[in-house]
Amino acid sequence: MVGVKLTALGKYVPARIMTNAEVATIVDTSDEWIRTRTGINQRRIAAPEESTSTLAIAAAQDVLDKRGIDPLEVEMIIVATMMPDNSFPATACQVQSGIGAFNASAFDVSAACSGFVYALEIAAQFIKTAAKQNALVIGSEVLSRVIDWQDRSTCVLFGDGAGSAFVEAAQEECFLASVLSADGTGKDLLYMPAGGTLLPTSIETVQNRQHFLKMKGQELFQAVVPMICDVIMSTCEKAGIPLENIKLIVPHQANVHIIKEVAEYLKFPFERFLINLQNYGNTSAASIPLALNDAVEEEKILPGDFVVMVGFGSGLTCAASLICWDESFIK
Ligand code: ACO
Repeated sequence: MVGVKLTALGKYVPARIMTNAEVATIVDTSDEWIRTRTGINQRRIAAPEESTSTLAIAAAQDVLDKRGIDPLEVEMIIVATMMPDNSFPATACQVQSGIGAFNASAFDVSAACSGFVYALEIAAQFIKTAAKQNALVIGSEVLSRVIDWQDRSTCVLFGDGAGSAFVEAAQEECFLASVLSADGTGKDLLYMPAGGTLLPTSIETVQNRQHFLKMKGQELFQAVVPMICDVIMSTCEKAGIPLENIKLIVPHQANVHIIKEVAEYLKFPFERFLINLQNYGNTSAASIPLALNDAVEEEKILPGDFVVMVGFGSGLTCAASLICWDESFIK
């Protein structure tokens, strides 16, 4: 078995900023309600010509430029997304051709807001078993196309964006432990009713607005808090690293109050959770890599630091990964 390290990060967010004040011109809400109930101030919205793959390609290009690696050297591409360009083919295949990484295998992972952590762990396992030498892992979402802009309880929450990470084989082991979990009994708390094999697209499904994301916000909030605490604790236990030794927890950016409750329950300082949802809203699989990018830019993560990433969302899925930040990381 070989070690795995994360050597570079990348990102892309659409240029268009939509403020809470602008959302309040579309549905009956207010900047104050959105800020106090969620912590969100603004989100990015993809341009008409952009899609999940174009965002992913831009984030992939960014991380490869930073790492200084030829696309032909990339061995595997995994895109985590809950809103791919198409049901098939995989968005990862669009990325493969978009960046010219023609030697890479390419597939998508569907684990909603936990998708990036799931995908990162899959990549790490391929590298640990020496099946691959490196992998490009991307979280990309264009949720603005599937949120119901007539439903104020959901449209205020989400945004578009993409984040990427390059992981590769190393002498030392930086991926110390991870726990990937799911509770399928919560599948109806956040889902899209139509468009799949269960309820194929028809005039009725369109008229009934069943191609938009549906969410039971309060129930989801209550369900995810214990799941998040469990996966963080089990991941630390598995790694043999006490929670207090963790420098930073990088959670999925859904709602600041979820993070506050988790901090309180774990008795872990709220200031040591990375929060950037004020700028981007909930970008699902993209939120953790976008937050990691910000943490590095703001020098909140330094070589030798223990960092926990934790995702949670539709499924319900929940996943955490504990890594040691390597000194070879390229900013
Ligand atoms: N503006 C103004 N009022 C609103 C809005 C809005 N945008 N949305 C709802 N309200 C109203 C409701 O109608 C309700 O009014 P009423 O009391 O007259 O009936 C009132 O505000 C309270 O509504 P709640 O739903 O109880 O509001 P809550 O404080 O629970 O906040 C929220 C809602 C923000 C959705 C919260 O429940 C939440 O964040 N839930 C978790 C979401 C989550 O975890 N997502 C993670 C997974 S994401 C993924 O996987 C893609």
